[in-house]
Amino acid sequence: MKLKNTLLIAALISLPINSALALDGEQLYNLKTCFACHGKDANSPILPIYPKLAGQNRDYIAAQMTDIKSGARANGQSAAMKGVMHLVSEEEIGAIADYLATLAP
Ligand code: HEC
Repeated sequence: MKLKNTLLIAALISLPINSALALDGEQLYNLKTCFACHGKDANSPILPIYPKLAGQNRDYIAAQMTDIKSGARANGQSAAMKGVMHLVSEEEIGAIADYLATLAP
């Protein structure tokens, strides 16, 4: 009982701290306007030639975002996306990639 209470208190104390520190990928996805082109569910892009992102491999997503941001990837329609990538830090790229990889494809 005592241990249970201690664990509960520990969980309550750590909750706000964790949510303040950890970046929320879902929130960032909306905040950084990703949804405007890739769809609210990351699976219904505004144009058929824009990619679906839901359920894609985490490291692949992060690498593509990094490369579109740096200009290393400049194929296809990437120019459309490059314009928003200055809003997204390396850390935020990681958090968004974590989130997108958890979605159902
Ligand atoms: C203005 C429209 C637009 C916005 C805003 C946008 N993207 Fe994109 N994104 C694209 C387009 C178009 C492509 C495909 C580029 C191409 O044709 O190669 C793309 C490609 C990608 C890819 C690579 C997909 C693959 O299969 O290789 C990822 C990952 C991605 N976007 C994530 C994001 C995230 C996360 C955000 C928000 C930070 C975002 N995009 C914002 C238009 C956009």
